Amino acid sequence: MLVNFIDMLNKAKEGNYAIPHFNINNLEWTKIILEKCEDLKIPVILGVSSSASKYMGGWFVCSNMVGSLIKEMNITIPVCLHVDHGTKEDCINAINNGFTSVMIDASKYKIDENIKITKEVVEYAHQRGISVEAEVGSIGLTTDSENIYADINDCIRLYKETGIDALAPAIGNAHGIYLEKPRLNYELLDEIKREISIPLVLHGGSGISHEDFEKLIKHGISKVNINTDLQIAWKKGLTNFLENNKEVYDPRKIILSGKEEMNKKIEELVNLFNTKM
Ligand code: 13P
Repeated sequence: MLVNFIDMLNKAKEGNYAIPHFNINNLEWTKIILEKCEDLKIPVILGVSSSASKYMGGWFVCSNMVGSLIKEMNITIPVCLHVDHGTKEDCINAINNGFTSVMIDASKYKIDENIKITKEVVEYAHQRGISVEAEVGSIGLTTDSENIYADINDCIRLYKETGIDALAPAIGNAHGIYLEKPRLNYELLDEIKREISIPLVLHGGSGISHEDFEKLIKHGISKVNINTDLQIAWKKGLTNFLENNKEVYDPRKIILSGKEEMNKKIEELVNLFNTKM
């Protein structure tokens, strides 16, 4: 069933666990993630970035692909189809083409502009039953060393002045492979949690230690975004397959050869997040 994230994230917040957000990159990944999460009987958020949407053929293609798979595969778990780091135009386009949730990322702008753009997206989305996540502070790449922490007053303002449903604050997390142990700011996270009553989101979940995940969830993270970890898992399975099957040319066999490693990683993360229905 395609849903927005409000119910699943509120339950996760209440129950002190996290919902996984897995980025999808193609048909095979989508099938693998849906099948595994159905098997585990957990809700899941499928994230589509603007570039992934272009790669797959556009927002309409993505939402039809996910909707059709849910039907054909008899998926019964709640599935949220979510724009990852969208512009205002991305969000509106995706909503008009069947997405059930969006993340408006106007974090590159000063806070007043971020609030203005985020509010416009919230108004458009909420009239249509679509959930909205927004970002404050800049969650960049692991190589960025400045501005890795959001300003608490900016977090409060974005929350109070826009009506968003979930907040992704920069707390020392980043996208991609961490070159050193991330300097996660738990004091900031606690302060944000005290001031803000909506669910909190952690981007850049790949490469975070088990201990940090336990702590992050205890300190109020209800949604964790994962992309790189599944890419690494998929590549491991694929590389191994290609080395041992030099005469195989069937693209279906090749692309699906990362499935087992992806499944292992999904299960490991879901257990760590303690995800429930
Ligand atoms: P990683 O690729 O570091 O897991 O980050 C994913 C993410 O935050 C998508 O928004």
